[in-house]
Amino acid sequence: MSPAPPRYQLRETGPPPSVDTVPALILPTARLSDSYTAGVQEFIAEGRGGPDDRSLLGDLLRDAGHPDGTDAWIHRVLDFERRLTTDPPARFVPSTTYWWTDGDTYLGRINLRHRLNEALSEVGGHIGYDVRPTARRRGHATAMLAAVLPNAAALGIDQALITCDTENTASRKVIEANGGVLEDEREGTLRYRVPTAP
Ligand SMILES: CC(C)(COP(=O)(O)OP(=O)(O)OC[C@H]1O[C@@H](n2cnc3c(N)ncnc32)[C@H](O)[C@@H]1OP(=O)(O)O)[C@@H](O)C(=O)NCCC(=O)NCCS
Repeated sequence: MSPAPPRYQLRETGPPPSVDTVPALILPTARLSDSYTAGVQEFIAEGRGGPDDRSLLGDLLRDAGHPDGTDAWIHRVLDFERRLTTDPPARFVPSTTYWWTDGDTYLGRINLRHRLNEALSEVGGHIGYDVRPTARRRGHATAMLAAVLPNAAALGIDQALITCDTENTASRKVIEANGGVLEDEREGTLRYRVPTAP
């Protein structure tokens, strides 16, 4: 029998993937604290987490603070992620954050909103994601989005709305590789519909 095709394409840049594990979505856990913290520090090094960072990572770092080498920090992160699902702040809808991991290595995160509100219907959509800088351009975002689509389907979302800036070539390719169909462009934002079932 011929071997199963690889789940994602190995790229020429970045460290090679582990040979004995397959990347997977997991719920945030203190078990991966060291690797997650290193990933967050990479985002901070590329300028994320400042007062002008309106992304979910920016919100998380404002709520939990920047990594300070203590166990308390990762528990504040987990508490933030838990509250997003069970007790979201006023302007948020309930959402679930998954981490994309390879064994004990944190690679990225993807946030699945359970429904849209008025603001998300314009910009933001059902799903947001990022991949840590040292793991980029290896197909992880494409694979991570594919992996979360069945979870969106399970929430009753047939056509996920996913948006990105017009200049975000990488994110456009991630969305289009997952079957995204451009709905329209609104003030520098591309709005795609992605079917959640094949
Ligand atoms: C966007 C992001 C998630 C892509 O992650 P990734 O794991 O590198 O993406 P993939 O490896 O799956 O690459 C998807 C495609 O984009 C291309 N790509 C990746 N980075 C790119 C870049 N900086 N410029 C141009 N193309 C790029 C890849 O070559 C690939 O193209 P191909 O399918 O034609 O070969 C990552 O760059 C990131 O976290 N950026 C910051 C946060 C962000 O922009 N999130 C999305 C908000 S909508």
